[in-house]
Amino acid sequence: MNNVDAILQAGLAAVAAVTDLIELEQVKARYLGKSGELTELLKQLGKLAPEERKAAGATINQAKQAFEAAHNDKRDQLNAAKLEAQLAAEALDVTLPGRGSVGGGLHPVALTLERISGLFRTMGFEVADGPEIETDFYNFQALNVPENHPARAMQDTFYVENGDVLRTHTSPIQARFMMNNEPPIKIVAPGRVYRVDSDATHSPMFHQMEGLWVEEGVSFADLKAVVTDFLRRFFERDDLQVRFRPSFFPFTEPSAEIDVLGERGWLEVGGCGMVHPNVLRNVNIDPEKYTGFAFGIGLDRFAMLRYGVNDLRLFFENDLNFLKQFN
Ligand code: FA5
Ligand code: MG
Repeated sequence: MNNVDAILQAGLAAVAAVTDLIELEQVKARYLGKSGELTELLKQLGKLAPEERKAAGATINQAKQAFEAAHNDKRDQLNAAKLEAQLAAEALDVTLPGRGSVGGGLHPVALTLERISGLFRTMGFEVADGPEIETDFYNFQALNVPENHPARAMQDTFYVENGDVLRTHTSPIQARFMMNNEPPIKIVAPGRVYRVDSDATHSPMFHQMEGLWVEEGVSFADLKAVVTDFLRRFFERDDLQVRFRPSFFPFTEPSAEIDVLGERGWLEVGGCGMVHPNVLRNVNIDPEKYTGFAFGIGLDRFAMLRYGVNDLRLFFENDLNFLKQFN
């Protein structure tokens, strides 16, 4: 039994030397496992003479307890060290200086919208609003577009379950506003609109701004003056070429497309006309007493022209390198 002490000393040294919990359990198995060194000694007790057995048993058990105590201490130490390392790794140094804030900016279409609203406000127009999910009545019927009218085909859109639509233009805001207000009415109404469209100058989601002026004596001459004045101010060019090209909209009569001469030739930026008497009747305004004009312009097209962007879809790809250029 002389070797008990030697085995214990070796075991204690091994425990002292381990650096992690897995290693520690391996050392424990080596001494106290099924065929561990101290376990083997206990197994041999039976071979001893009865008078030696008691003392030897006590010695081995003491060694076993000493080893276990050392093992437990080491385990507690390693656990504490592990916890401390984890806390240190996850610590937040609240005294560190901040990383600095990156300045945000407005989207080029939002910048354009703000600029255009501002220009119309200085001309006495109020800004109105309406829902993006619109009823068939306001998007079409109130605007003199009956259910099977071919004009609907040009504005194919996304239908919501109960027959409502994602609005195809901002014109329903006209109808809503006239339904709830008496002339004189002088508003612009910007917002998102949706169509089944997609190419370099057409996006399935785009932005329009509606304009509406209803009052006694408003004429097509007023329409041309307001639109031309606005366009020249927007593009900051007194000699800007503007063209009113005869066209058709069910809700205006007469109607025209508004074209602007840009670097790449004429670009249609909107539609306009005198509010159709049927539309005035639909919203309970007397067409014998009042006249009005309306226009709807494509805000994304204005952004393209102003910033020299040749593909509308770039505005909606959310590429920060592209978008950052406008701020
Ligand atoms: C209309 O939407 C009429 N509501 C405009 C109007 C209002 C006429 C009031 C008369 C009175 P139009 O479908 O042409 O018209 O669209 C108007 C403008 O929106 C176009 O000139 C164009 O600048 C822009 N636009 C149309 N479709 C798209 C599209 N898919 N992507 C981007 N811009 C578009
Ligand atoms: Mg058009």
